Amino acid sequence: MEKISLRPTNDYCPQPLFLYGTRDEEGRSDFGLFCWFSYLWDGELGVMACIGGEKQTKDNIHRTKVFSANMVTEALLPLADHLGNASGRDPRKMDPVTGIGEGKVLPIPVLTASPVVYELEVRQFIPMDDEEVMLCRIRGVLRDANLPEGVENVTEELAVIAPVSTTCRRYFGWDGRDLGAWGEPRERLEGPGR
Ligand SMILES: Cc1cc2nc3c(=O)[nH]c(=O)nc-3n(C[C@H](O)[C@H](O)[C@H](O)COP(=O)(O)O)c2cc1C
Repeated sequence: MEKISLRPTNDYCPQPLFLYGTRDEEGRSDFGLFCWFSYLWDGELGVMACIGGEKQTKDNIHRTKVFSANMVTEALLPLADHLGNASGRDPRKMDPVTGIGEGKVLPIPVLTASPVVYELEVRQFIPMDDEEVMLCRIRGVLRDANLPEGVENVTEELAVIAPVSTTCRRYFGWDGRDLGAWGEPRERLEGPGR
């Protein structure tokens, strides 16, 4: 197959989306949207996550060393898009967020509406010039009890969950449908914060 050379790009690396749930010094919950998220194996299954720049989520994780990673579904997308386009420094950012529960093994805020949630503890912070890589231990995984169970049902399970991924600054459904550009789904969000 003949190839052409491209500049460095992540266009061909669609990423899953997660909302990281953290708490500030006052105990207030914050959720931010993140896609630099994958897994690793180091004697046990773990997670690697990367946060760039200066963010409320980063400050909170530095202090507590724990966070939740809540899978983004199509139903959650308008809220997730808002949480990825508003700074945690804005006191009104969290106004549209309802249904905040508690982790089962870690003291972290979790989104009730997310069907799959990782409870993560940072083992190692790797600071870079502008970003920070975090290697995490998976302390727990929460899963909606009503989802179809078993490996043989994974196709059905993922169809029900309807996870959202992203590339080229757009959102995509599990079946490849285009769900809009970053900043568009939040326009459908109603109520406080809009
Ligand atoms: C689709 C999408 C994916 C994002 N992924 C990341 C990411 O992986 N790492 C990162 O540092 N910021 C990422 N962001 C930006 C943060 O979500 C954004 O800065 C947000 O305001 C952070 O919230 P916080 O201030 O409450 O921490 C992403 C934004 C969008 C819209």
